[in-house]
Amino acid sequence: MVGKGIHIEGLKKRYGSGDTAVEALKNVDMEVAPGEVVGLIGPSGSGKSTLLKCLGAVIEPTAGRMILGDEVIYNNGWKVTDLRALRRDKIGFIFQAPYLIPFLDVTDNVALLPMLAGKPNAEARQRARELFKDLDMEHRAKAMPSQLSGGEQQRVAIARGLVNRPPVILADEPTAPLDSERALAVIRILNDMARKFETAIIVVTHDEKIIPTFKRIYNIRDGVTYEEAGEGRDFELKYK
Ligand SMILES: Nc1ncnc2c1ncn2[C@@H]1O[C@H](COP(=O)(O)OP(=O)(O)O)[C@@H](O)[C@H]1O
Ligand SMILES: [Mg+2]
Repeated sequence: MVGKGIHIEGLKKRYGSGDTAVEALKNVDMEVAPGEVVGLIGPSGSGKSTLLKCLGAVIEPTAGRMILGDEVIYNNGWKVTDLRALRRDKIGFIFQAPYLIPFLDVTDNVALLPMLAGKPNAEARQRARELFKDLDMEHRAKAMPSQLSGGEQQRVAIARGLVNRPPVILADEPTAPLDSERALAVIRILNDMARKFETAIIVVTHDEKIIPTFKRIYNIRDGVTYEEAGEGRDFELKYK
């Protein structure tokens, strides 16, 4: 099926060759619908980062199929020629540390990506301001990153992940440095944004505070994914 969201089938990734080869992904199947936030959990060394890097077109898989949005991006080989444009336009990344640019105010930190994608500056800043409204960050729009709390910085990083309206967001331990309340706030925001923009979101996490919030979880062990039902603990969603 070619639909929206994320579709991964029989994905494999081998590092190296011969006796020292590592089969980091042996068989990964995954399906994330637009508007859905799924958890990706698994022990250290199980292949989580490798999977995110393949999906994010940072490294090349060895075999399998990946569809992002309505585009087959990989089918036993890349199906797109411009991987940089693919990363920029189709995928939002949110990391454990927000990695904001210290000498740009938070609006420009977010507006930079659409500017790089060729949007006029005024439109890029307008998009940033709209996201700040959604994220209750309007009053901080002119602040420098160093003036923000950890939770506020992470909201800026979320705005940056969303600003090009990618069909897919990959979040790697986005709540690790946050206390329980802020971690849950980040997850609530991701759920709200997923619904509002029909984004498919994968959250890699070890964080016991947020694992009960997922409705579906992919557990990866030794390079193989197993789908599990999560507790799907309810959230008050701002956007229906
Ligand atoms: N660049 C690499 N070269 C060789 N082996 C690697 C490389 N990156 C990861 N691996 C191996 O692939 C497996 C999966 O690693 P990784 O995807 O980082 O797991 P996780 O993120 O779940 O901890 C591990 O055995 C790891 O040692
Ligand atoms: Mg990792």
